[in-house]
Amino acid sequence: MKKEVYTIFKMYCYQYKLSNYKSKKLWNIIRPICYHKEFLIRLQKPFWHHDIKTLGEHIICDAIVTYKIIDKLNKKNKNSLNINLAVIIAMFHDLYEKPWQNNLELPKRKFKNNHGFTHPIEAITNAITWFPNYFKNDKDALIIIDGVIHHMFPFPVRIIDNSIELNNQDKFNNLNDKYKKIIKLSASIGKIGNFSLRKSFYVEGQIMSKADKIVAIKKDLKSINGYISFLTGKNNNLLQKAKK
Ligand SMILES: [Fe+2]
Ligand SMILES: [Fe+2]
Repeated sequence: MKKEVYTIFKMYCYQYKLSNYKSKKLWNIIRPICYHKEFLIRLQKPFWHHDIKTLGEHIICDAIVTYKIIDKLNKKNKNSLNINLAVIIAMFHDLYEKPWQNNLELPKRKFKNNHGFTHPIEAITNAITWFPNYFKNDKDALIIIDGVIHHMFPFPVRIIDNSIELNNQDKFNNLNDKYKKIIKLSASIGKIGNFSLRKSFYVEGQIMSKADKIVAIKKDLKSINGYISFLTGKNNNLLQKAKK
């Protein structure tokens, strides 16, 4: 898979019309993450994201679209946005623990703990565990964490309390207290009941969230089953694909 990841990346650069020059610059930012074994696992089945792409492919597409939007804005506004941080948010935003569609091994959860609400917390927990270097600078850590936690906006994220169910709870418990505090705080501001509903405080995160919608709605979710799976965890399109 390590050999294929660059080809996959270039294929999507072509699809999203990112020039060779810019794709080289983007590859320099994302390469260490793409080559990590946990990322490579997410580029293969059973890590389907929605209907047609693997999770790794979806993440690469989000990184490309995020890069394109920020690059365009920075041309107008004299590099006012941090393109590296925005791309890193894209690379980390969906690094959740387990395949979530049609996965009978997953325990039944309360509605408030469904994948849609909890996966940003799993993703940031995994990102800090697997890629600690990106979180060494406190200010960068804040921007990345807040961006990942609220990437689903206008869909809410679960607040962190005693009744949350995560597939990587052990990893969350093992995080440095400093990061646990930031994650809890980020997921509590904007609280409505069991959820927090707000966009990221940082423009880099807001743009990444927009890129996620562009990729998901325009390219990934081609059917009603794709949308329904988001709340139920079941995707009939994938079941039919597996039978073929
Ligand atoms: Fe997501
Ligand atoms: Fe996503």
